Amino acid sequence: MKIAVPKERREHEPRVAASPDSVKKLIGLGFEVVIEAGAGAGASYSDEAYRTAGASIADSEQAALGDADIVLKIRAPLADSEIGLTKKGAIVIAHMNALGDRDTAKACADAGITAFALEMLPRITRAQSMDILSSQSNLAGYKAVLDAAGVLGRAFPMMMTAAGTIPPAKAFIMGVGVAGLQAIATAKRLGAVVTATDVRPATKEQVASLGGKFLEVDAEMEKDAQTEGGYAKEMPPEYFEKQKQVVAEHIKKQDVVITTALIPGRPAPTLVTEEMVQSMPAGAVIVDLAAEAGGNCVLTEFGKTVVKHGVSIVGHANVPGRLAEDASALFAKNMVNFLTPLVDAETKALAIDWEDEIIKGTLVCRDGQVVHPALK
Ligand code: NAI
Repeated sequence: MKIAVPKERREHEPRVAASPDSVKKLIGLGFEVVIEAGAGAGASYSDEAYRTAGASIADSEQAALGDADIVLKIRAPLADSEIGLTKKGAIVIAHMNALGDRDTAKACADAGITAFALEMLPRITRAQSMDILSSQSNLAGYKAVLDAAGVLGRAFPMMMTAAGTIPPAKAFIMGVGVAGLQAIATAKRLGAVVTATDVRPATKEQVASLGGKFLEVDAEMEKDAQTEGGYAKEMPPEYFEKQKQVVAEHIKKQDVVITTALIPGRPAPTLVTEEMVQSMPAGAVIVDLAAEAGGNCVLTEFGKTVVKHGVSIVGHANVPGRLAEDASALFAKNMVNFLTPLVDAETKALAIDWEDEIIKGTLVCRDGQVVHPALK
């Protein structure tokens, strides 16, 4: 069985779906691994490092994909090139953005590809080690704080110097999922005074355990804010009204705001209005980790840092990609963990249990059909 790892060709994508370390593990599982030349360059992995790990290097995308049985990718294959180069019946595993990009799911089905969308992995204990959303969000939360620190014209920690005392920066984290938790921990480590808010009541304790202070909006409405899968639900307009009032008061005093709020398959909720930005101290920084999903701040511009009303608003594209080496290493490990149970340890052949919860949860298309219930 041959696994191919092509170079990512989408904009803003330096990551790669295999690391030299994951190549060794894939070979240990019984696969032959082909890496497209230069695929790891954006993540600091040389062709030589892959070769030393046991992979062969293909000169072109076509040579890599041509006869591959399994294709590992960070992002969904491109309809006008990669899908056409992938053989019928091959398996593609990637962050397919299946809910947001149904055309690609359909194009894969039409090409006879079996595609798995790792972003749709059920959030069960057994799947934790395969969870690309967690591994990437964790890095994004960390990097968001460093990005804020890089733009802010003030220090994060309190400093008592002979020239005078600098008060600590105030950082407010909106959305306390995986990225938000890491942002809280990182901002605390840098010495900021940290507050945070979320619609899911379970996050209150988590914020406190990291040394942050929780900003509550409406405990009654938040009781029902979480789906069974652990995700936030879209909140009613009354909640947003209340949230606006509470946040508007709080945000006036914040030097740094990091927004991370997402609802799977929906545009990101608007949490920071133009009036709120206007009310913030001059020189404050907002880092919007939801920029790709439309942004949590109305003034965010995707892929740019803009200054509005004296406040810098950072809307980097692909924040995990700003730590491409670690992000790729973890993504690649998630891939190995997803593939391991699909391989029969003795025969080294694929033995997929199509009824398994993880398979059913991630399978987008098979035998020419889009099969995922959420996409039908
Ligand atoms: P996410 O990336 O979907 O959203 C980020 C955060 O934004 C969430 O905490 C969400 O509640 C919050 N949010 C959404 N709308 C909001 C609003 N209007 N105002 C304020 N906050 C808002 O979340 P992520 O990081 O994917 O985590 C979702 C859940 O999944 C969490 O409960 C997390 O602990 C859980 N999880 C479970 C795993 C497992 O068991 N395998 C692995 C990873 C996460």
